[in-house]
Amino acid sequence: MACKTIIWLGVIVLWGVLDKQGFVHGEPQVPCFFIFGDSLSDNGNNNNLLTSAKVNYQPYGIDFLTGPTGRFTNGRTGVDIIAELLGFNNLIPPFATADGLDILKGVNYASGGSGIRDETGQNLGAHISLGLQLIHHKVTISRITKTLRRNDIAEEHLNKCLYYVGIGSNDYVNNYFMPQFYPTSRLFSLQQYAGVLIDQYSLKLRALHQLGARKFALVGLGLIGCTPNALFSNGRNGTSCVEEMNSAVQIFNDKLKSLVDQLNNELSDAKFIYVNTTALLSGDLTSAGFKVFNVGCCPVGKNGLCIPSQTPCQNRTEYIFWDSFHPTEPVNKIAATRSYKASGPFDTYPIDISGLVQQ
Ligand SMILES: *[C@@H]1O[C@H](CO)[C@@H](O)[C@H](O)[C@H]1NC(C)=O
Ligand SMILES: *[C@@H]1O[C@H](CO)[C@@H](O)[C@H](O)[C@H]1NC(C)=O
Ligand SMILES: *[C@@H]1O[C@H](CO)[C@@H](O)[C@H](O)[C@H]1NC(C)=O
Repeated sequence: MACKTIIWLGVIVLWGVLDKQGFVHGEPQVPCFFIFGDSLSDNGNNNNLLTSAKVNYQPYGIDFLTGPTGRFTNGRTGVDIIAELLGFNNLIPPFATADGLDILKGVNYASGGSGIRDETGQNLGAHISLGLQLIHHKVTISRITKTLRRNDIAEEHLNKCLYYVGIGSNDYVNNYFMPQFYPTSRLFSLQQYAGVLIDQYSLKLRALHQLGARKFALVGLGLIGCTPNALFSNGRNGTSCVEEMNSAVQIFNDKLKSLVDQLNNELSDAKFIYVNTTALLSGDLTSAGFKVFNVGCCPVGKNGLCIPSQTPCQNRTEYIFWDSFHPTEPVNKIAATRSYKASGPFDTYPIDISGLVQQ
């Protein structure tokens, strides 16, 4: 056991040396990739939780190599695709099952239904809030430190990783806009609520910085008022987006972008970028081949998730949405590709992910 560790340690150190001299090809652009978020990034962390926000059943994963995994889409998620673009040969494992040396390359802590606020998503059942995801990251760090045997080497390693954080939609969808379950809409105006969320988010990001994170991609919220779930909610007949939800998101996103400026000023040893999800999917999606914008590809139940084992649409490249909340893989691919390499002036701020990892 100890012997094995030492051999591995040797291999890792050797990689590092070769890497600096530029001899090794096929190494990822960062040695490690850590992911914090919700169902848009979850890759199986909810599978063993008592919650209705889990999808480790067919037809989820119909276009994924290993079938249903807990990913809330038909194929790869955005972070799966970003990991590929960064040059990782293997998928980043979910915290729930990650072990051994895999964790040196990163861990995915994302959990469907979760939000910045701890209570967000409890209408669906158990979930791993951003706060708990950070506690899980501390567990990973102590494992990494044990493996690398030296605090300074572990810290140096953690400094080089990319930290992707995409969270906040559920603080609206499964909190503020569910007044029957949560009091937040009676306590706060949308402006105040965005402020409360961003303040808490800011504290969590500073804690993550304290834990050695230096390269942050903060992902803004998508237009939650245009999901099939929103379109058909409250007796609406699916013809137009729910403006109140979209403007809520816009307030949050504007504040998140300001937070990026603030953190870049205050934490000069770190770099933060903002990923503008709205911009990534702007442009002519019709000419990109999409035809269906207002309903998901699979037949859904009351909760907006696919009904188990029902046959989904055949032509998944024509659909924006997979179920009533989550985009299809082709949409994830566009968003991930443009967040990695920006193709419009608003896509990322101030630089894209490919620029961030080079710093
Ligand atoms: C329902 O859709 C029709 C057009 O198809 C529109 O004229 C009508 O205002 C809509 N009703 C509601 C409640 O949104
Ligand atoms: C995001 O991009 C859109 C353009 O698609 C722009 O109108 C909006 O201001 C941007 N949001 C932020 C917070 O920069
Ligand atoms: C794609 O699927 C939808 C819904 O099943 C259907 O209405 C449409 O005709 C299909 N398009 C093609 C080209 O098969």
